[in-house]
Amino acid sequence: MLSDRELKQKWFDYFQKHGFKKISGYSIIPESDTGVLFTTAGMHPLVPYLLGEKHPAGNKIVNIQKCLRTSDIDEVGDNSHLTCFEMLGCWTLGECDKCAMIRLSYDFITKELKIDKNKVAVSVFAGDENAPRDEEAAKAWKENGIDKVFFLPKENNWWSISGGEGPCGPDTEMFLIKDKPDCSKDCSPACDCGKYVEFWNDVFMEYLVKKQGEKPVKLDRPNIDTGMGLERTLMVINGYDSVYEIGGLKRGIEFVKQKSKVFDERASRIIVDHIRAATFVLGDEKGVVPSNLGQGYILRRLIRRSVNYARKLQLEEGALLELADMFVEEYCLDYPELAKKREFVKDELAKEMQKFSKAIEGGYKEFEKVLSGIERHKQFAAKTGEIVKDIISGKAAFRLYDTFGFPLELTKEMAKERGYQVDEEGFNQEFKHHQDISRTATVGTFKGGLADSSEQTIKYHTACHLLLAGLRKLDPETKQKGSNLTAERLRFDFSFPRKLEKSELEFLEKFVNDAIAKKLPVSCAEMSLDDAKKSGAVGSFENKYGEKVKVYTIGDVSKEICGGPHVENTGVLGIFKITKEESSSAGVRRIKAILE
Ligand code: SER
Repeated sequence: MLSDRELKQKWFDYFQKHGFKKISGYSIIPESDTGVLFTTAGMHPLVPYLLGEKHPAGNKIVNIQKCLRTSDIDEVGDNSHLTCFEMLGCWTLGECDKCAMIRLSYDFITKELKIDKNKVAVSVFAGDENAPRDEEAAKAWKENGIDKVFFLPKENNWWSISGGEGPCGPDTEMFLIKDKPDCSKDCSPACDCGKYVEFWNDVFMEYLVKKQGEKPVKLDRPNIDTGMGLERTLMVINGYDSVYEIGGLKRGIEFVKQKSKVFDERASRIIVDHIRAATFVLGDEKGVVPSNLGQGYILRRLIRRSVNYARKLQLEEGALLELADMFVEEYCLDYPELAKKREFVKDELAKEMQKFSKAIEGGYKEFEKVLSGIERHKQFAAKTGEIVKDIISGKAAFRLYDTFGFPLELTKEMAKERGYQVDEEGFNQEFKHHQDISRTATVGTFKGGLADSSEQTIKYHTACHLLLAGLRKLDPETKQKGSNLTAERLRFDFSFPRKLEKSELEFLEKFVNDAIAKKLPVSCAEMSLDDAKKSGAVGSFENKYGEKVKVYTIGDVSKEICGGPHVENTGVLGIFKITKEESSSAGVRRIKAILE
């Protein structure tokens, strides 16, 4: 049996021996707006380098990356799905020697992992209108002695970041062949009968999709991106039935079982996965806290879902915090930031759990009331012939969300267990209605990990750029010192030596409103930090490695280095109104403003 520690060691030793430089993993929270809420693969933080920027460590690198994917959250609890996982990755930047990488992969599989080559199958890209059939990769595998090579279409063997934009290309996936008969005459790694279990992926990043929906174009400097899911691989090579037999996950499950009164395998697994994920997110150097927006909302959902399952298992009080502490201990060797943030992780978890626990009993009661209401309605309707469906109304689901803090997905899950559905559209309408009235913060999406800044927040973001441009008319030295955006207002901190005059505030309002009235286009360009500075863009977010930056230009009014996102045209912003000007700290003033 290979332990997680041993596999990590082998990974580094092997690739370092072959000239790859070890770098540390990146934050689980992406650098700026990269289109996703969390780092979902090792290649993610490396996109600037995959697009040609020079990496300080050279062009062959190897690391281990903490990742979070939420697209399969409903599957968590089965044998193989996790939200949070570790990815062993290595890259050749600006170089795509397929034969060499396949040779390295083959040797790692057969010599280091000691897997019998007859038990290995691979898939390669079958080709389509955009890219040719990958005969080169197939030939390389065959030359190494792998004869089970399957040509599969784009759905299986084309890798891109979710959404399709960015560097991408054909890949070759590696599978362990399980000892079981073919499910049909067409049985292949493309079917999910369980005969073929994927554990490794080499992506030949030869293409770039510049904009979602566009055709891929050839990259001048192609790369190879290879990624191996740690947990999945250990499960496969050790012949485990589930990923919960591995290291920290296993200890987590044992702990939960020991501390709970009721036994339920799936619930225990969900708790272990979610608390581990929450520990990684809170314990990240850029740790976010639970909220109703984007990353914070996902974190909130992970924690609240764990609390819900802990209640089912009658888990001892405080056990979830102890579990988080265990995970800090378990992983701090590889991710030292966890140890530094141990108290923060526990405090934030405790706060969120407390918030939810206060409302949870009331919420369950409310939920039961809603269900009995439906049943009563059904009995009554039986007499009149009216048909009543087992659907919880959007209004009721919204009340559970708004008053009792039940994320929609949790209500849906509880409803499903009892054979009911939730009117999601109705919920969204209620939500929007409520938002229109009170302009409360918005709920983020929990699908696919795509960033979901609310429309209103994005508008405020663009308004901040206009405001800064206006402030720089008052004093060209003015710099942004911080900002905080919600769906209800913007808060903008900037360097300024004194209180602003009433006339100056009026000037700013007029300046921003004029830019809105002119319906100016907002455009974005990517360039190196140097070029951005030369172009006259303002921005205080200097990057450590001189990566590519995005520059947002608003007509002839503003040019700023910024991750985005922004509206496409200032015309959609509405009317800009300053509601407050105050001191923030010495030499820093604060403006609060709304869009009406
Ligand atoms: N990016 C590829 C994956 O996620 C390989 O690293 O599988």
